[in-house]
Amino acid sequence: MSVQSAIRRKTAPDIRARKNGEPIVMLTSYHAHTAALVDRHCDVILVGDSLGNVMHGFETTVPVTLDMMILQGHAVMRGSQHALVVVDMPFGSYEASKEQAFHSAVRILKETHCGAVKLEGGARMADTVAFLSERGIPVMGHIGLTPQSINTLGSFRAQGREEGSWGPIESDARAIAQAGAFSVVIEAVAEPLARKITEAIEIPTIGIGASAACDGQVLVLEDMLGLSPRTPKFVRRYGDLGPVIAAAIEGYARDVRSRAFPGPEHVYGMKAKS
Ligand code: KIV
Repeated sequence: MSVQSAIRRKTAPDIRARKNGEPIVMLTSYHAHTAALVDRHCDVILVGDSLGNVMHGFETTVPVTLDMMILQGHAVMRGSQHALVVVDMPFGSYEASKEQAFHSAVRILKETHCGAVKLEGGARMADTVAFLSERGIPVMGHIGLTPQSINTLGSFRAQGREEGSWGPIESDARAIAQAGAFSVVIEAVAEPLARKITEAIEIPTIGIGASAACDGQVLVLEDMLGLSPRTPKFVRRYGDLGPVIAAAIEGYARDVRSRAFPGPEHVYGMKAKS
């Protein structure tokens, strides 16, 4: 076997092996430049279908297509070298049958060169997760709040608020783990439930608005940088880049309008003709 590159990326089995170990650091990225920044500090880069909200201004992730995910997944692979890149399977690309999921996932892996896919749903997707995993496609699950189901859920409300509703969410987690997923995202789930699931299943859990006890955490990059107009309540901001970017654009516009914008002479040493 020939080896193309000396740089070794993290793999799905590497992440699977982090159960009860060093916490897994995961952030989203949709393009090459942010992927390069995220790659320095994260174990996993998620090309999330949240790109529908962040890049395209959609209200939900439902309109996102497989082609959109593949385009941005490929860009993130070009921008990163070390992290495992996981690409979301968008709504409509995997639910109809195991075979549909396989063909969509194969396109994602072949056309982006990423290392794994993520899909939403618990027990109802277990057969599909097993079908993909047995055929060489590492799958990250996603349970709790599953935003692609917004039209049947009715709202982006946290799940498992009452203890009486925990059963199906716990069963979802167990089903996904038993089906062979290498890890599972738990989104917007009551803290004690996310903690209980983390203790109960043998694969790493990655929380988003879930519990600090999860085996890792994920956030949408633009949310934690303060660039999103609306963010879920649980998001902690690690930066406030909105005003910084707005001030830079304002300064540029002011320079152009007042003809203070530097000409090429500062680069080429030529005096601009007046
Ligand atoms: O699409 C996304 O960014 C996600 C995360 C919120 C987990 O699925």
